[in-house]
Amino acid sequence: MEGFQYRFEPGTDPALPPLLLLHGTGGDEHDLIPLGREVAPGAALLSPRGRVLEHGMPRFFRRLAEGVFDEDDLRAQAAALAGFVAAAREQHGLAAPVALGFSNGANIAAALLLLHPGTLAGAALLRAMPPLRQPPEVALPGTPVLMLSGQADPIIPPQGSAALAATLEGAGAAVMHRSLPTGHGLTRTDLVLTREWLENGLK
Ligand code: MLT
Repeated sequence: MEGFQYRFEPGTDPALPPLLLLHGTGGDEHDLIPLGREVAPGAALLSPRGRVLEHGMPRFFRRLAEGVFDEDDLRAQAAALAGFVAAAREQHGLAAPVALGFSNGANIAAALLLLHPGTLAGAALLRAMPPLRQPPEVALPGTPVLMLSGQADPIIPPQGSAALAATLEGAGAAVMHRSLPTGHGLTRTDLVLTREWLENGLK
């Protein structure tokens, strides 16, 4: 589907939204399955592998340097991923998914929200930064978004995550942004907060 390798794990509780798992640089479709199971037991899991390779490491779009994105590629890849989600929903009979993305996966999830509204029912963005220098005008009324940032993240300065939160809020999304006393890597707290947000009906 759209050239994406992916893993699909059917859910056992049809009331739960499926999770679209989006890995970080160098990850693959298997990486976030254990995290998905832990934060949303019973939910269907849809986990594609990024189609771009950087020195052999899968990513969801090209970058020119760390934190400097090839926005033409980003737009093309976001469109392809939106197409993948639509095709996978049809094939597996799924509702619109909630993205759970880490790092590069969180950035492509943010791009999906901004460029393809309607693809995602919501998003948990773990260590995200603004994917586009000039975000488009978009309406995301009430779309639930959890952002978890690291105060000591060497890749994403606090103003980067704050800018993304402001963009999404400006579009009308229901953003819960927490800044954690940690770096770029995920911690137990990320897992607990993501699970709580999902259990509380994305609040
Ligand atoms: C990105 O390239 O999306 C961000 O720099 C995060 C990363 O993948 O390292």
